[in-house]
Formats: sequence, C-alpha cells, structure tokens
Amino acid sequence: MNDFQIAPSILSANFACLGEEVDNVLKSGADIVHFDVMDNHYVPNLTIGPLVCEALRKHGVTADIDVHLMVKPVDRIVPDFAAAGATYITFHPEASEHVDRTLQLIRAEGCKSGLVFNPATPLSYLDFVMDKIDMILIMSVNPGFGGQSFIPAAMDKLRECHRRIKASGYNIRLEIDGGVKADNIREVAETGCDTFVAGSGIFGKAVASDPHRYDTILRAFRDELAKVKR
Ligand code: DX5
Ligand code: ZN
Repeated sequence: MNDFQIAPSILSANFACLGEEVDNVLKSGADIVHFDVMDNHYVPNLTIGPLVCEALRKHGVTADIDVHLMVKPVDRIVPDFAAAGATYITFHPEASEHVDRTLQLIRAEGCKSGLVFNPATPLSYLDFVMDKIDMILIMSVNPGFGGQSFIPAAMDKLRECHRRIKASGYNIRLEIDGGVKADNIREVAETGCDTFVAGSGIFGKAVASDPHRYDTILRAFRDELAKVKR
C-alpha cells in the first residue's frame, strides 16, 4: 500500500482569503500544506513568514504544515516557525553554514527536519546526516517562483534518492516540488517519490466561482496515483 501525500503549495493560492483556500483544498482531499518561505536574498522573491503559519493554526488548520525555507541564514528563523506550528521544516543545505547543526536544531524544536536539493545540488549532502532527516525534498524547478516547467533530470535524482533512503533503513519521506501536474504525477511517483507539491497545478486550475473547485483536480491526481506500479 503506497502512502502518497498531496501537498498543495499555497504560493499559488489567493492570499486575500488564505484560510478559506486552505480549508477548501484540504476538504477536497489534500493531505498536507506546503508553505513556501522566500526572503529576497537566498531566492529573488519575498513571501510569507511565521505570522502567517500561526494565523493558519489559529484559523483551525490541523493538517501538517510543511515549511519550505528558501532563506539565508536559516537557524535564526527555525524556532519562530516551530512556535508558529510548523510540522516539517526543510531548508537548502547551501543556505546553512552548519547543515548538521540546523537539522539537529529543527528536531530539538519539536519539528520534523528535511533537506532540499536544487536542480544542480548534488545528493552528497546526505552522506553523513541520514539519521537526522525526516524528509528529502527534490526541486524540479529552480526555487523562487511557482508556475515553472518540470526539469526532467529530477527523475533520476528521485530514483537515486529513493535508493539511498531504502539502503539507510530510515523512515524518510521523498518529496518533489515544481511543475507537478496531473499529467506527470504518475511517472514521478513511479520513481519512489511519495509526497507531491503542486501549486499552479492545483490553485491555478480552479474556477473561482465553483464551490467544489479543488475536488476535480485532486481527484485527477488521486486517479493517476492509483495507477502507479512499483
Ligand atoms: C518554488 C516553490 C514551489 C512552488 C511550486 O520555489 O518551492 O513550492 O510553489 O509551484 P508549481 O507547482 O506551480 O511549480
Ligand atoms: Zn516549495
């Protein structure tokens, strides 16, 4: 039995009614909330911080919140996100001076930890830290913006990563982020990936006047995942 999780990236949601957007997408069958944090320094865009994460919790969101930090430095902001209700906190190894220390900090703050790999970042950052990781996130676009096209080299990287996870014996989720749509999710899942971020593929496809706007899209994702052969 595959344990697939769909993680809508709220970067593509309507920020003017974010709580409602998150409620609707979870009601339509999404599993976790992907929360993109950009600082206009590590990446050339600026988004949302711990206050918004906390606001979603206060609004009543109980699903896991998967905080993807695209910020540099990393450590200063980790306790703030833990206090704001983050479940996962993942970061880019190039953005931390001390990757092992940051991974330990995330767990010490009570969250699940993860490393994020840009398209050109080698997986060797994993070599000595598999015991401190709960999630590996493979970027299939360069970080900073939603709506970009899937970079095909991510497929081999996912397969290699899956192999490393199996060999380690640890329980580590394998997540993909960037350009995931209903028409490629099945192929992505067949690499061993189990957690699927989709921003424009979910929020960008909905008709605002339709009260069940995310049902059809999430159903299409699930139908594709049901066909996965491993
Ligand atoms: C990009 C972000 C992604 C982004 C994905 O830096 O990390 O989470 O929202 O958007 P789509 O699914 O539109 O490629
Ligand atoms: Zn992301």
